[in-house]
This record gives sequence, C-alpha cells and structure tokens, in this order.
Amino acid sequence: MSFYITCAIDYPNSQPHIGTAYEKIAADTIARYKRLVGEDVFFLMGLDEHSQNVYKRAQELGVDPQAFTDKMEGEFRAAWAAVNVEFDDFIRTTEDRHRVAVEAMVQRAEAAGDLYEGFYKGYYCVSCEAYYGERDLVEGNCPIHETPPEFREEVNVFFRLSAYQDRLKAHYEEHPEFVQPDYRRNELLALLDSGLEDISVSRASDGWGIPMPGHEGQSVYVWFDALTNYLSATGFPEETATYEKYWPADLHLVGKDITRFHAIIWPAMLMSAGVPLPGMVFGHGWVLTGGGRMSKSKGNVVDPLAMAERFGADTLRYFLLREAPFGRDLEFDIEKFVGRYNADLANDLGNLLQRTVGMAIKYQDGALGGHTEGDLTGLSATAREVEAEYREAMERYDLQGALKAIWKLVAAGNLAVDRHAPWALAKDPEKAAELDAVLSELVALLGKLTVLVHPFMPERSVAMAQALGLDDDPTVWSIDDLHDASRAPRQVHKSEPLFPRLDIEEVIEGDA
Ligand code: MSP
Repeated sequence: MSFYITCAIDYPNSQPHIGTAYEKIAADTIARYKRLVGEDVFFLMGLDEHSQNVYKRAQELGVDPQAFTDKMEGEFRAAWAAVNVEFDDFIRTTEDRHRVAVEAMVQRAEAAGDLYEGFYKGYYCVSCEAYYGERDLVEGNCPIHETPPEFREEVNVFFRLSAYQDRLKAHYEEHPEFVQPDYRRNELLALLDSGLEDISVSRASDGWGIPMPGHEGQSVYVWFDALTNYLSATGFPEETATYEKYWPADLHLVGKDITRFHAIIWPAMLMSAGVPLPGMVFGHGWVLTGGGRMSKSKGNVVDPLAMAERFGADTLRYFLLREAPFGRDLEFDIEKFVGRYNADLANDLGNLLQRTVGMAIKYQDGALGGHTEGDLTGLSATAREVEAEYREAMERYDLQGALKAIWKLVAAGNLAVDRHAPWALAKDPEKAAELDAVLSELVALLGKLTVLVHPFMPERSVAMAQALGLDDDPTVWSIDDLHDASRAPRQVHKSEPLFPRLDIEEVIEGDA
C-alpha cells in the first residue's frame, strides 16, 4: 500500500524554529511508522518562496530574492537533518516543475469557468498572506499575528469559491475523516455554514511570483501557488508513475492556523480542476512559549539546531510529541523538558536498558539463551497488548497515545526486573535456567521497544539496537516481526548510557 504524506511548505523569510520543526518531526514520525508497517511511503516537504515577506526580507538584505531563498534552502535542510527528519522529496515553489503545475491548475480553473476579473478592496495580512474582512480583525489587528493588516484596493482575478460550498459540505459529510481532529472539522463546518465568498487568486505583479496565465501584470496568489506543491511533486499535470502511485495524498499535516486553506480552498481548487481530493487534512496545535505562539515575529523562538546539539534530536522529538495530545497546543518550557527527560528517558527507558544489559553482561557475559516460550515474566503477553494499542493510536495519529502505550511496556519491564530480581537468582547456581529466561525475556522486550520507539527516536533506537546486538539498519525492521522470538537479541554489548541524567540547575545556568 502506498502512503503519501505532506507537511506545510515553510516561508523561508526566517530560520526554522521549534514551532515549525514540530510539524516536520510529527510527519517524519508518522512516515517512519508507516514504513515499519510495510507501507510504501512518499514524504514531501519544501519551501513556499513566493511570499511577499520573502521578497521584502531579500530587499532589506539587499540581495536578489532567488539568491536569498537558495541560501535559506540550505538552512532549512540543515535544521531538518539536525532533528532527524528524512523526507523523500523537497519541493521549492520557484522550481520549474512547480510552475508548470500551477499554470495547469489556473488553466483548469479558467476552463471550468471558475475565474473572473473583479475589484478587490479590503484588508490583507502579509504574514498570513490572507485577506480579512473587517469583522475578522481583533482590535483592528490580524487575529493570528496581532499586527495591523494593509488596506488594499486592486483589480484581481477571483476564484468562484462560493460555488463549491455545497459540494464541500457534502464531502465533509461523506468523509468525516477529511478534516481531523473532529474539533477542527467542527470549526470548519461552522465556517462553511456561515457562507463562502469568492477569493482573489492573483495580485498585481511585483516580479516575484508565478505570472498568472492569461492575465498580464498579475501574479498567482501565493496560496493558490503554494497549495499546488502537493501535486507538482508528483509530476502533475503529467500522469507520471509517481502521480499514479501516490495521488491522492493520504495526509496533509498542517498547523491549525492554515487548516482552512487546506480544507476549503484546496479541495475547491481540486474539484474545479477535476483532480481527486486528498484523504485527510490534519490540523495540529501550536508550540507556545510563555502562553503565546512561538514565532519569529514575536521574537520568542527556540532554535532546533541548538536544542538538538545540546540534548540530542531524539530527546527533543520525544518531548514535543509526548507533551500534549497531538492536535492540541503545547507549552515549550525548559524545566518541563528536563523533568520529562529525566523521568521518562533517563530513568524509565534508559535505566531499563542499562540495568538489563549490565546484568546480562555481569552474569552471562552478555549471552542469552533466548528461552522465552514460558513467558515467565508475562512481558510477552503485555507486549502483544501494547502493540495493538500502539498501532491503533498511530493509525489515528494519536502520537502521544502511542508513546504512552510504549511506556506501559517500559514500566512493565522495570517492574519485572524488580519482581524477578536477577541479582538474587544469580546467587543460586540451581536457578541459572530461570535467570537466563528472565534476562532473555527482558532483553527480548528491549528489542521490541527498539522497534516501537524507532519512529519517534530514529537515532537512539539504532543505538539501542547496537547495544542489543540487533541488526542496526532500521529499513529491515518491521512491526510484523515484533513477536518473532527468533529475532530476539542473543548477545548484548556494553554501551554508554543512552540518556544520561540532566541536572536542571546546570541546564538553567547554561542558559543564563
Ligand atoms: N507557507 C505557508 C504554508 C503553505 S502550505 C501549502 C505557511 N508557512 S509558515 O512558515 O508560516 O508555517 C509553516 C507551518 O508551520 C504551518 O503549518 C504552521 O502552522 C506551522 N507553525 C508555525 N509556527 C508554529 C508553532 N509555533 N507551532 C506549531 N506549528 C507552527 O504557513
């Protein structure tokens, strides 16, 4: 089965931060999980370059906008690599393959009779790249950026969005999964009920943007341009093998601020062009600092590269996905981060690994007989239950739920160590078989945990595999083999602690 997953393509006017990284980490985790269950995954990310803020920023710096975004591409790629995000394709909206797709979408909308020229008058937030009616503003400011919008009056090309209201509603009703979580779907249903207005899909050209075919002097509105990226990466409008295999996309993962563009404008554009609709738009929450959205314009950003360098990328990934139910906002706070790290990673998972491997080395030179049939510890049965819970959560993109399920297994492992006290068994030569069974079962459990945590912690899971003497190439791992006893570790190795404890005082002093 194929699985096509996309993230929002970022505006490259400023560097990525933990808020923008959050979405990519979540998508990467889902992509890795889908690979573990044997799906043929296509994971797309990229840059949304034709934003007016990008153009402005390049002007401020006195550089050519294309040269500026070329440089920013390097910074984005470096940040994604630093947080262990691995995509299959990276699209830039300044690429030719993208322009061709956008032109095709404009031409199809035109052919469907959905474009007309009109006069636009109203408010525009350049950071959102969105038009707002007077009633949408909060004390005269953009509701998202809390900055004053520009008043604009110009001749534009309009898209007949209003004509799609009923079809969109019908689609939401027939496919309740189209917008997730349900609370976001309800927000959008309310928006649909309040009535859709036609939208402007062009603006007077300033030389930055894709020229609007058939409308001289106009550039394609940046959202009409940007949304099309999901198609351009498949080779659209050509019906390439990639298009045939992966379109329609299964999941567009985007922030809650831009869910409406993906769940209203995008499906209407696709309907107009006669292209099948994606399976799901999932609107995730925001990473907040001090209660507000982390954003460059607010100046409260945390650098993912610095975090990854200091604490490890997988640690950051774990915190972000564990901290809140996926879909809801989460507060990024260094004390909480250190607390969770010490409790869940250093104590629970790290200690289980360190203790178990340490005992296997001390009592049996690291060799395990692999006797697991009796399920003396009950860990094998617990692992089956947890695997089912984990899969069910992952299929719903309940990433926090999946982590909680894994940690039940970690807790069961630690409990089994205490209960079966291998150090006591080791004192009695007659209990050698029992000792080997307990250690084999514990080590087998760690092998399962390695696979289950892999989507969340791609790098630490490989280190776990190495300590356990397992094949350390995750591309050969599969959840279907989870309970296959013949794959359980037989020879473990001494390793450095995977999650050394952090001292909160030192961390805070380091920040000062
Ligand atoms: N370029 C548009 C998306 C076009 S998709 C066809 C855009 N870019 S953005 O750079 O402003 O945001 C990129 C993604 O990051 C969006 O999904 C946005 O919601 C998300 N986030 C930006 N700040 C965020 C947080 N503080 N927290 C979580 N996600 C955040 O919008």
